[in-house]
Amino acid sequence: MRRVTVFATLALLTMGLLQTAQAATPDDAIKYSKAVMSTLSGHISALMMIHGGKVEHQEALLGHAEALAAGAAQAGKMFPTGSGTGKTDALPLIWEDAAGFAKAADAGTAATAALRDAIKSGDKAAIGRSLKPVFDSCKGCHDRFRKEG
Ligand code: HEC
Repeated sequence: MRRVTVFATLALLTMGLLQTAQAATPDDAIKYSKAVMSTLSGHISALMMIHGGKVEHQEALLGHAEALAAGAAQAGKMFPTGSGTGKTDALPLIWEDAAGFAKAADAGTAATAALRDAIKSGDKAAIGRSLKPVFDSCKGCHDRFRKEG
């Protein structure tokens, strides 16, 4: 009896583990990419407000920059094959031109990492110079790989 219970518990645990290891459904993949993208615009907006002196929250500047860089580093990994249909603005070109998409994702990763490093260094001029490449990388990818509107 006892052995059966232990076995049943193990089986349930294993099933649970298998379930968490399952590939994401296309719907969840889409929800995830949208959630991460929303954090990118939240963090860059907050960062710009602090950098532009509209609000005082200097102590939070690096945190926003780090979160931005971490989120941008996900961009190339969060559009798995099969997640192009449903409630998404992702264009089929993401999968048709996978190399081009990877390049656009790398540009976002590099630009946000450079901004984070500039903020870490505290060099205002370097921070200023690092902003445009970040916006260019968002726009560069959206213009090519995201539906308009
Ligand atoms: C490598 C490509 C790529 C990069 C780089 C990128 N994005 Fe996106 N972004 C996308 C795609 C594709 C979508 C459409 C996602 C969807 O609808 O499933 C999107 C959607 C969004 C959305 C809408 C999310 C929603 O809820 O529908 C926002 C906001 C956004 N991006 C902000 C940003 C910002 C800010 C940056 C730069 C810091 C950025 N993105 C960089 C590809 C990119």
